[in-house]
Amino acid sequence: MPVSGECRYPKGNVLYRRLKRSYPRIVRGEGCWLFDSEGNKYLDGSCGAYVANLGHGVGEVADAMAAQARRFGYVNGTAFTHDAVEELAAEVCAIYGNGLNKAFFLCSGADVVEAALKLSRQYWAENGKPAKRKIVSLTPSYHGNSMLALSISGRGSYRALFDGWLLDMPTVPAPYTYRCPCRGKKPECPACSGKALESAILREGPDNVAAFIAEPIGGSSTGISVPRPDYFRNIREICDRHKVLFIADEILAGLGRTGTWSALEPYGVVPDILLLGKGLGAGCVPLSAMLTSERIVDPLARGAGALVHNQTFSHHPVSCAAGVATLRLMKREKMVERAAEMGRKLFERLQPLAAHPHVGDIRGRGLLAGIEFVADQETRAPFPRALKFAETFTETAMGMGLVVWPNYGQAEGGAGDLAMLAPPFVISDAELDELVRRFGNALEAALKQVQKGAGA
Ligand SMILES: Cc1ncc(COP(=O)(O)O)c(C=O)c1O
Repeated sequence: MPVSGECRYPKGNVLYRRLKRSYPRIVRGEGCWLFDSEGNKYLDGSCGAYVANLGHGVGEVADAMAAQARRFGYVNGTAFTHDAVEELAAEVCAIYGNGLNKAFFLCSGADVVEAALKLSRQYWAENGKPAKRKIVSLTPSYHGNSMLALSISGRGSYRALFDGWLLDMPTVPAPYTYRCPCRGKKPECPACSGKALESAILREGPDNVAAFIAEPIGGSSTGISVPRPDYFRNIREICDRHKVLFIADEILAGLGRTGTWSALEPYGVVPDILLLGKGLGAGCVPLSAMLTSERIVDPLARGAGALVHNQTFSHHPVSCAAGVATLRLMKREKMVERAAEMGRKLFERLQPLAAHPHVGDIRGRGLLAGIEFVADQETRAPFPRALKFAETFTETAMGMGLVVWPNYGQAEGGAGDLAMLAPPFVISDAELDELVRRFGNALEAALKQVQKGAGA
């Protein structure tokens, strides 16, 4: 399938996100499919970056946005409130419950990560403990590309250039069972059990630690690694014991993607702060949310009288209207149940690939799967990074009309190749078959390509 050669740096005025490739120009989307200006169609196997969870061309969300924009498009959230933000807060807090009854809305994931870190610090300062300001996070992990979010993201390659600009925050190894020496099997393993967090808090001094932040299911950075069932129970106990807030970053894995509204739900644990993003506006608007409780907000109300964090577009009326329409549609159409059901079917269909000598692991939950490619299935040795296997696979899949989300660098020495699948919740049985067929074909073609390159 030819890929358009028109949209490529240095042509035109767009500073493209990759400067060495051509961009297909998308002109239309419908359900799981995207259509480009050359007449090619793409099965969106990852909802872009895990965003268009209800598929493309969702008229109901578009209508709600247009209606809101016609009434009024913007008011300043410091001066006014409005129906859209009140309704969205009520909807999202009713869904998440468990005392999480206060919601703050921003645009991107990084925006709410920053808000949550600042809220944690302010909470302790208002409680007379200003020294509690360190944030513990996992390595590998990813929480966003703004400087504070990057400071607590365990992604060496993203951080390297900004050395000197970033804060030095403590980290603990992620519960990445596939690459842990204990392979998730040793009950006392510090990384897999979560007990590494306690050592880090004691090392830093509990009086200096404000919060621990983690993704309930490892996102792109560990290829959808699912922590052991005891992990977050231990984390919750450790945080409570040392008076450290627990921030659950569900920006990627929340909102039904894993077959439950919250990715933490199966662990039976409630965070102090929960973060949502990506699919909250069904891909029609940039919209993210920070949920917390009165217990956390009350000290601010008694003290400074406001969260010391704000942005022009917080609580944006049109974005919030899109969020309300998204959540109402999801509830009415039982989309989360559908994600669970179609997720089971996705993993069934992927199962035969597990025998492939270059597939090390297939993991995930709900309609969220990570496939880890390896040079050797037995030893779990990754491909040499110089082969750029994840990138080759992704471009090959795209050429075959399948969009996946790649990542790399999670294994020893910056090697490691991952491909993630997160199709729209509306995907049909036939589309799932097609997705897995294209994935298998792309794998064979990419292997041939790297072998040819290595031999050349
Ligand atoms: C778990 C997680 N947190 C935060 C972010 C940052 O979100 P954004 O790119 O919208 O700033 C991402 C983005 O991929 C993410 O996956």
